[in-house]
Amino acid sequence: MKLLVTGGAGFIGSNFIRHILNKYPDYHITNLDKLTYAGNLDNLKDIDGRPNYRFLRGDICDAKTVSEAVQGVDAIVNFAAETHVDRSILEPGSFIQTDIYGTYVLLEAVKAHGIQRYIQISTDEVYGSIEQGSFTEASPVMPSSPYSASKAGSDMLVHSYWKTFHLPVIITRSSNNYGPYQYPEKLIPLFITNVLEDRPLPLYGDGLNVRDWIYVTDNCAAIDLVLHRGKEGEVYNIGGGNERTNIEITEIILRELGKPKDLIKRIKDRPGHDRRYSIDSSRLVSLGFEPQYGFEEAMQNTVRWYRENEWWWKKVKSEDFKRFYKKAYGEVEW
Ligand code: NAD
Ligand code: TYD
Repeated sequence: MKLLVTGGAGFIGSNFIRHILNKYPDYHITNLDKLTYAGNLDNLKDIDGRPNYRFLRGDICDAKTVSEAVQGVDAIVNFAAETHVDRSILEPGSFIQTDIYGTYVLLEAVKAHGIQRYIQISTDEVYGSIEQGSFTEASPVMPSSPYSASKAGSDMLVHSYWKTFHLPVIITRSSNNYGPYQYPEKLIPLFITNVLEDRPLPLYGDGLNVRDWIYVTDNCAAIDLVLHRGKEGEVYNIGGGNERTNIEITEIILRELGKPKDLIKRIKDRPGHDRRYSIDSSRLVSLGFEPQYGFEEAMQNTVRWYRENEWWWKKVKSEDFKRFYKKAYGEVEW
């Protein structure tokens, strides 16, 4: 197979490229990535130079670049997006542009070039918050942040290209990922690296918001399964089955690193903060999916990876990151 992976220099995309090239050594991958603040070629240092891997720097919103990138491609897996809720609250414009308009450009390319498969990587956040029970793929979308609204918008567009043009599209909606190479603005890598630097941990509100955590490698295996065996026109929820409150996650990190709880700094709640995410993944399970990693073991792997790879995150937590951090968490000292 010849794949175009967009956003492959980010967290999940880079893990996906590594997963695919290790599992299918005869596949070819083109990675089209704009290299925004979140894109990082260090994420693929071990892959760069392989004859069946090619990196192209470019924007999915640019139709000309996309039409060059899709030449000879069998399938597209679209990870490219603006992804951080806090940034979408501060500056939503780029979310609307990349997540919605960029998806439109890719869909037009699928249509024009007769691409055989298009996988849209979406999120459980499009459903919004649920107090009890779990969302299925038939649940209505009710996004709460400009980020999740932009992802819901792109999902709607993908669905419309299925209905109207019969394009071979599939959507995956995964829960919160964690693991190596995650940009340290997200809860788990931010808190691990802050603890390693003895910085305070900015915990929103009462810390009792719940997220369902999936190890990134398990999400990559699920996307691989959907790419090869998923049904066109379907949506697949990809849940980890590990619901934890933010305070539980924080305490695990502090325990693993042997640091005291007084590093926790409670801050004013995030506006529009979703209380709980929970999805039912039985459709994916019926395709044959089984997660390979238990939560405790995968969290230990993750903490160990950041401890052993300071070279990676110290570079990322640069001046630029500090500017964002001060804007987002003004009340917390850097
Ligand atoms: P990330 O922020 O780490 O990476 C995003 C990548 O997209 C970066 O490499 C960036 O340079 C690239 N990009 C951004 N705009 C682009 C553009 N206009 N053209 C080309 N490339 C562009 O994100 P991630 O956490 O790896 O998430 C990947 C996908 O998975 C996203 O679509 C996200 O919505 C979805 N998702 C993420 C999670 C999670 O927990 N991280 C959970 C569910 C779904
Ligand atoms: P995040 O990693 O931003 O993912 P999302 O909001 O997309 O689920 O946040 C996960 C949870 O952790 C969410 O409830 C917000 C909370 N959180 C904090 O309390 N402090 C932080 O500094 C961050 C980044 C997140």
